[in-house]
Amino acid sequence: MPGTCVIGLQWGDEAKGKIVDLLTARHDVVVRYQGGANAGHTVVHGGQTYKLSLLPSGVLTPGVTCVIAGGVVFNPAKAIEELDELLGRGVEDCDNLKLSDRVHVIFPWHFAEDRALDHSAGSTETIGTTGRGIGPCYRDKVGRTYAMRLGDLYRPGAKEKIEQITAAKNKLLATLHDGDDFEPLDAAAIYEQYKAFADRLEPYVCDTTEYLLTAAEAGRNILFEGAQGALLDVDHGTYPYVTSSNSSGVGVSNGSGLPAKYVNHVIGIVKAYSTRVGGGPFPTEQDNDIGQKIRDAGNEYGTVTKRPRRCGWLDAVAIRYTSRLSGVDSICVMLLDVLSGFDELKICTEYEIDGQRTNVFPSHVDDLRKAKPVYETVPGWSEDVTGARTLDDLPAAARAYLDRIAELVGVPVEMVSVGPDRDATIPTEYRGVLAAAQ
Ligand code: IMP
Repeated sequence: MPGTCVIGLQWGDEAKGKIVDLLTARHDVVVRYQGGANAGHTVVHGGQTYKLSLLPSGVLTPGVTCVIAGGVVFNPAKAIEELDELLGRGVEDCDNLKLSDRVHVIFPWHFAEDRALDHSAGSTETIGTTGRGIGPCYRDKVGRTYAMRLGDLYRPGAKEKIEQITAAKNKLLATLHDGDDFEPLDAAAIYEQYKAFADRLEPYVCDTTEYLLTAAEAGRNILFEGAQGALLDVDHGTYPYVTSSNSSGVGVSNGSGLPAKYVNHVIGIVKAYSTRVGGGPFPTEQDNDIGQKIRDAGNEYGTVTKRPRRCGWLDAVAIRYTSRLSGVDSICVMLLDVLSGFDELKICTEYEIDGQRTNVFPSHVDDLRKAKPVYETVPGWSEDVTGARTLDDLPAAARAYLDRIAELVGVPVEMVSVGPDRDATIPTEYRGVLAAAQ
């Protein structure tokens, strides 16, 4: 029984949605298990482009059950907006969607806190959050006092709870605003709005942990759709410049409620270069013409926030680390076409930190900040590769680049993507999970 997991191995935006979409048809269930509407998935399906940030991309595939599991922080307005858009664009129905009653709900105070507290104490550098209330909602989940799960909205006492939390949050927000103009939140209006959201979503809400356990025990094929990237993992990423959930492979079980024995294959998704949105160290960043050339060719602007992404060379030290951390069996190299037109390419193979060379990814952000990338320079290629459908269609330099990535990361490349369309992919000789999906 294959439980397959798709994990981004960089700082998010690795084009995971395309691989999830390719795999979805071979699975019975697709699960989102961490993060929230901070993730942007672009899926090209039936010739149409869909931009989803909360609903699993599998919702576009009839016959596949899509689960938003308990580890997600849930913005109900966004879920309804995405549902309405899909229904409005002719997606037959979304009754294959299951929402966990355990998801923590994002409220207006979470957005306000995200705006007011987007930094780590003692640092002048902002985290550059997506402003979607993700961190504050996870903070309240762990703190428990001011938390509400989706299931709470259907229980007696929901109104009173919202009133109590709003009163406490208004005090907190007034302090954070420190005398600046601040419009207190209106508990009655919030309750009415969230009650309406809850009513609209009620047909989809259930105990997804029980559903998934039963599905796994019955041997159904489950696809776990990771959001963000492993370098943004709250415990194992570039803390504090991370998201608030376990976005590496280690997060699958706690977010979904399924034990690790049901995760049989892990596919790592790697962009052919590096990008990062928001603050935090980025050793191979090219804040220059090279970075701009990558940004233009790769249209590297945020799906959710539209922010220009920081761009740079591939960092094999980071990817080797996140691949090991996530238990990756094979990788897909995405956006290879973006690198056409460079005379030469650089791959970071080691860091130099305080005069010492290492291939170990530092655990402390201060060391990562000091890390000077040690580059290997390899030949580039000038040809447009978007029409390539086999490895033989690629220039020799592109093939050599892929081989070197596999060697440095220590796992085989299973597939290469050379364009946004579903068929703009190249299977490799490695026969992994995706090869069977072709
Ligand atoms: P948050 O997840 O909104 O709290 O943002 C924390 C950090 O994670 C910021 O640097 C964001 O830019 C980054 N981030 C969150 N979601 C994504 C994503 O889907 N792609 C890329 N970066 C993300």
